[in-house]
Amino acid sequence: MTLVLKVSKKNGERARRTLINKGYFDNEHKPDSEKNCIYFPVTREFKTQLGTFEKRNLDKFKSRPSSLRELFMKVVPLNLIHDVRRSYDLIGDIAVIEIPDSLKKYEKVIAASLLKTNSKIKVVAKKPKRIEGEYRIRKVKILAGERRTTTEYRESDCLFRFDLNKTYFSQRLGNERLRLAKKVKGSEKILVMFSGVAPFGIVIAKKHPFAKVWNIELNPDAAKYAAKNIELNHLGSRVFSIKGDVKKEIPKLKEKFDRIIMVLPFHNEKFLKSA
Ligand SMILES: C[S@@+](CC[C@H](N)C(=O)[O-])C[C@H]1O[C@@H](n2cnc3c(N)ncnc32)[C@H](O)[C@@H]1O
Repeated sequence: MTLVLKVSKKNGERARRTLINKGYFDNEHKPDSEKNCIYFPVTREFKTQLGTFEKRNLDKFKSRPSSLRELFMKVVPLNLIHDVRRSYDLIGDIAVIEIPDSLKKYEKVIAASLLKTNSKIKVVAKKPKRIEGEYRIRKVKILAGERRTTTEYRESDCLFRFDLNKTYFSQRLGNERLRLAKKVKGSEKILVMFSGVAPFGIVIAKKHPFAKVWNIELNPDAAKYAAKNIELNHLGSRVFSIKGDVKKEIPKLKEKFDRIIMVLPFHNEKFLKSA
């Protein structure tokens, strides 16, 4: 039997918010309802005119909620539950979740409950609305867990280290990296323009032991992480990180390339001449 607060349905939302705010909501049991009443599981009795306390048999929440909405039902008012996004991105050990403005007030409790669901998550961060500037950075805001934005991410037998708030990285391009890697033949020489932390070059080089890859990146932090990632993946003898503007750096290269990859979402045409 569980201690419950029995309230009329018209007082349901008020009671729910009161319990969440006071921290008396018993998160382990599911609320129940019958005719005009709702039974909220509570951790203790307290003075209230919202309803009365009694004992009742309530179902337990499954240990792993089947969806983010089910998880956040405990911390977000029911009328806003449909604003909760259905998924989040897990980049290394950082969970990046989109939180719409309607849920801003609840972002910290949402993040705290997400942090508890998966031991692989060490940081929960809020996805920004925009990608910023020439370096295409998506600056996240930490909401729960460790105070850091650096992480390590594994993909296609490669390891990448980077800082979400200083470099561009998209794990959603993983399939595109593999698609391009499959097109490469044997000992090609490849130039990657706008190479970020070098995920394209590294995935390709890992799959093709005789290929050589030159990466050019303007953002000094990204070029620094690219050099680190080349080292982490033991590719230093045939994958290179060049810091600078492709327009200035390409003419300095004395190589002829079999393949050139440009990973810039727009204004690619401005750089075709350099390629
Ligand atoms: C969309 S990101 C792609 C990064 C990387 N290829 C990836 O997929 O993770 C574009 C990158 O181009 C870099 N960039 C922008 N203008 C550049 C230029 N003129 N020369 C070299 N890199 C540039 C930005 O700093 C950014 O890291």
